[in-house]
Amino acid sequence: MKTIVSGIQPSGCLTLGNYLGAIKNFVSMQNNASEDDNIFIFIADLHALTVPQDPAALRKNIRSLAAIYLACGLDPNKSTLFVQSEVTEHSEIAYLLQTISYIGELERMTQYKDKKQKQVEGVSSSLLTYPVLMAGDILLYNADYVPVGEDQRQHLELTRNLAERFNSRFSETFKVPECLIAKVGAKIMSLQEPTKKMSKSDPLEKASIFLLDPENVIRKKIASSVTDSDGVIKFDPINKPGISNLLTIYSCSTGKSIDELVEQYKNSGYGDFKKDVADAVINLLMPIQEKYNYYLNSKELDEILDNGRDKATYFARKTLSKMKRKMGIIRKK
Ligand code: AMP
Ligand code: TRP
Repeated sequence: MKTIVSGIQPSGCLTLGNYLGAIKNFVSMQNNASEDDNIFIFIADLHALTVPQDPAALRKNIRSLAAIYLACGLDPNKSTLFVQSEVTEHSEIAYLLQTISYIGELERMTQYKDKKQKQVEGVSSSLLTYPVLMAGDILLYNADYVPVGEDQRQHLELTRNLAERFNSRFSETFKVPECLIAKVGAKIMSLQEPTKKMSKSDPLEKASIFLLDPENVIRKKIASSVTDSDGVIKFDPINKPGISNLLTIYSCSTGKSIDELVEQYKNSGYGDFKKDVADAVINLLMPIQEKYNYYLNSKELDEILDNGRDKATYFARKTLSKMKRKMGIIRKK
């Protein structure tokens, strides 16, 4: 029996990077799982609150992400889908784990350092403690595997350290989870600055493909993506980051290998190549958008999230009471 845990923040429109780097892997792990495996995929709304959010927009984004999960192929009969804040044990374990985390190790997190720079109205203390909440998300369910994109590797390392630290202070309690990062697609780059990752929060609209972008917008964004001037289609992320990124996107969208694509396009120009990349992305996203619209307006969505919350709570409570007992916060033995 294996347990898989992951989540995504409902902090705006999801990008193709979120799909190829994360959701696609959740779905394939789900589809390859055996009957007794447990898969928990949640909407990380508490994480979204680490930077200021508009409450009405956040409420909408939570439902929207749930509909995206379902539209992308997550199946509530195989995976437990829920909203993080509805399982209040997440907040509680985060506090307990904060008691064994050091400020120094949190200050060293690169995502904290980056996000801190961008905060104009002051940096919330939750931005610093965010990776501890993430460790809690994972340890609550005693995960074996955590599928994420490359940018989460450091947070996973911290989670592993905290699990080991807890085990050595309070006796064996947690499994030490493994980070699963896809070989191709773990870091989809910006279409405008292909040395930077594609991000939900990029102020430049045309830098990212959003999962809900209409067909003509996808075509335009890919056609105007930044490449280079040597006219050769080959995979070389250092010298040809733009073309390499398009090759990665094409490969992940179709299942064709990068070598196969390089061979196929060895005599083509960038214009034709970009047109085909756009077709591949559109073929991937259009069916997802159709299903998204269905789920967003369905009654099923709330039932799925209610059931997910109840199932997750059952597991989370067990872990939490074990932790509390080991830490001594219990009145009777
Ligand atoms: P976030 O948008 O930060 O909530 O990320 C959700 C998941 O998507 C995490 O597993 C990230 O590692 C992954 N992810 C985000 N952006 C990208 C990207 N540009 N390429 C690949 N994976 C990504
Ligand atoms: N921090 C992750 C991100 O921003 C989202 C996340 C929160 C997560 N908790 C998690 C991912 C637990 C995996 C496991 O992408």
